[in-house]
Amino acid sequence: MTGERILFAVAEADVAAWDRAFRKVGLTLTREGGAGIRYGLIWKPPAGTYAAAPDLQVIFSLGAGVERLLGDPAVPTRTTIVKMAEPGMTQTMVQHVLWQVIGHHRRFWELAEAQREARWLDQLYPPPWRRKVGVLGLGALGSAAAMALRDFSFDVRGWSRNAKTIDGVACFAGHDGFDDFLDGLEIVVCLLPLTPETTGILNADLFRRLAPGATLVNVARGGHLNEADLLEALAGQQLAAASLDVTGTEPLPEGHPFWRHPRIFMTPHNAADIDPETAAVAIARQIARHAAGEALEHAVDRMRGY
Ligand code: NDP
Ligand code: OXD
Repeated sequence: MTGERILFAVAEADVAAWDRAFRKVGLTLTREGGAGIRYGLIWKPPAGTYAAAPDLQVIFSLGAGVERLLGDPAVPTRTTIVKMAEPGMTQTMVQHVLWQVIGHHRRFWELAEAQREARWLDQLYPPPWRRKVGVLGLGALGSAAAMALRDFSFDVRGWSRNAKTIDGVACFAGHDGFDDFLDGLEIVVCLLPLTPETTGILNADLFRRLAPGATLVNVARGGHLNEADLLEALAGQQLAAASLDVTGTEPLPEGHPFWRHPRIFMTPHNAADIDPETAAVAIARQIARHAAGEALEHAVDRMRGY
């Protein structure tokens, strides 16, 4: 496998950093297609990428969310798509989720407002074990976030499609577990993939089942959120606030009501970031597995949509 050429078809990347990282693990990135190229590292590729790589077998997605790749008719059906899962991405996502959840738990935004008004706001807040936090999606990122929140002593629940066991996290699964998962949650974090089943899941019906004055943290995809329902829930104080890293249109258009909403906190889809060095190590390990005829980890199930 050493010397294997990997097709690098990625828009907006630090190409030199990726080249260096792959050289370190004995792999060579190429931006040219050609016969014999079996692996590709791909994210928003230029037109013609797949036609120029007729022997492509595995697409390593440069993102964990693969809805765009799955919706691209140019992606050859013979290829296996593998989601990005690497420590740099996981740890930066965990850090972002902790930052947002702790910020809402301690209501830092109320303190910032009070400071601007020269008001001494000695507000009360419960200990973390009395704060009910739920994580939608318990995959590579959601399970790491749930465990980190647990380690910060929050009362944590998680929801996935298949039943899971995570020490110290109350796990719920599927439609049957949805109501119990949501019941009385005070902070809800979305880390689901965007699929036909999860599109629009963050809506008025879900908000109504949370504790009054709950908070939403969406770090998954803008398509999970019904934007009009969010604005209504904030206006009616069903929700106290929302932190959004992702929106339906990105960048968020000028004049969009989210920009200036006093209870919506935006970040520019940068909750998690991939470290080329740790990603190259993870991909090299996967290529070794593939060469040995072993199953690839984090392979996408096209029928399930993630
Ligand atoms: P995974 O594929 O590893 O995990 C997905 C999780 O969602 C699994 O636990 C899965 O359940 C659960 N799930 C999927 N469909 C359903 C459903 N219908 N009902 C209940 N649970 C469901 O994904 P990752 O953790 O790697 O990433 C999650 C998402 O985070 C990505 O798809 C992407 O959209 C977003 N993301 C955002 C970033 C950002 O910077 N804002 C960066 C990286 C990712 P089960 O385990 O049972 O299969
Ligand atoms: C991803 C993302 O899906 O960055 O990896 O959003």
